[in-house]
Amino acid sequence: MKSAVPSDLESYLAQNDARIHDELFEFLRIPSVSARSEHNADTARAAEWLRQSLEKAGMTARIHPTSGHPIVVGEWRGAPGAPTALVYGHYDVQPAEPLDLWTSPPFEPTVRDGKIYGRGSVDDKGQLFLHVKALEAHLATRKTLPLNIVLIAEGEEEVGSANLERFISENEELLKADVAVISDSAMFAPGQPSILSSLRGLAYFQIDVQGPICDLHSGSYGGAVVNPAMALARILSTMHDENGHIAIDGFYDKVRVWEPRILEQMRKLPFDEEDFRKDIGVSKLGGEKGYSVLEQLWARPTCEVNGLFSGYTDEGAKTVLPAKAMAKVSCRLVPDQDPAEIEKLLDAHLMRVAPEGVTVTVTHLHGGRPWRAELDGPVYDAARRALKSAFERDAVIVGEGGSIPVVGDFERILGTPVLLVGFGLPGENAHAPDEWISEENFRKGMSAMAVLWDEYGRNGKP
Ligand code: BES
Ligand code: ZN
Repeated sequence: MKSAVPSDLESYLAQNDARIHDELFEFLRIPSVSARSEHNADTARAAEWLRQSLEKAGMTARIHPTSGHPIVVGEWRGAPGAPTALVYGHYDVQPAEPLDLWTSPPFEPTVRDGKIYGRGSVDDKGQLFLHVKALEAHLATRKTLPLNIVLIAEGEEEVGSANLERFISENEELLKADVAVISDSAMFAPGQPSILSSLRGLAYFQIDVQGPICDLHSGSYGGAVVNPAMALARILSTMHDENGHIAIDGFYDKVRVWEPRILEQMRKLPFDEEDFRKDIGVSKLGGEKGYSVLEQLWARPTCEVNGLFSGYTDEGAKTVLPAKAMAKVSCRLVPDQDPAEIEKLLDAHLMRVAPEGVTVTVTHLHGGRPWRAELDGPVYDAARRALKSAFERDAVIVGEGGSIPVVGDFERILGTPVLLVGFGLPGENAHAPDEWISEENFRKGMSAMAVLWDEYGRNGKP
């Protein structure tokens, strides 16, 4: 398979490289932290910035207010009869704290060693923006695109996309497309373009354990009163057996086994479990016995504590029997597990194991369905050719342990198949201090996505 990036697109991107970087840096400077209301004005500003950027690229673009953060939609429909592609991304970012662990400030993008550091650089502003610039390259050099494009960017992905499903249902005509393309994930390794075959879903809970009406002196009361922190620890310890298997009745009932062809490709990937262990600095890996690390991450569900709080946690010692304890728990799900069903199973489990003497309540925070790709059809062929032309290497098929809940919605509500092709890298620090995107991947991502539209426009029948 021989292909190259067409020279007009390539030279446009090269000649405009400095300006494109400057614009990306402007985008990254806006602290659009969706989780924090004190940043609501910044989040709105990021939406407007993106709208203007889409207009500059040659599209028409509108902001759609929601009861949360706005949704930005750009359109270019100048190719009647040609297919339509829907590009999705998110312009909101995770909180940047803890700030003291950043080498350079999170909202002052900085290049070091070929990496652009800043909150949102890879998740997902950089990857969203490379799509905008790939479209601009077409519209600026050729005044046209070989297909119709709708680009949707939300500002609530990092907080559970509460308003997106409804927006999609209410705007089917606007968003209907032959394919959806998303870049909000990572490549398997540097230089190794990757197409995603799966995402895990999510069911996120808060467990509150209430004991006495207020904190008590642990000497005057301890021993006679059920301690909520200990009760919570006991509850959490019932969630797995000694083999790391989740011990919630019915939890695995809907877990589908992976197709042999996908498993076989996964086993061929050059992945060193020992390197993985060393990179994260643990003395031994854990998890469910009997599965490789990649299987554990991509093909198996989890139940994890994300946060835990009770009693006195400040400096020194304070003798206290806490009145309450709280845990944030999330389950990553795999096809065909359903978040609503998992919520019910977890509720039943917790009620069964809750000790007497405390009150246990469960709040469902958010969820998302898992997803598995079909991996066939014109857009996958086009993606393989496009990635090869930009990265000069054949793409591999990989799984993913994270979640992008909208993917399932596009397929279910719009009937639109989804291609997931990301340009992050292992170690990119998404959601963590010193988040980065590789400059090389940003550039090659732009080229690859510009070629994708040529390839798909030519071969994707509406
Ligand atoms: N970009 C990620 C999704 C992702 C995570 C892709 C890991 C590849 C690897 C996305 O922004 C994200 O963080 N999703 C959340 C979803 C949740 C808030 C519903 C996640 O996976 O935790
Ligand atoms: Zn994220």
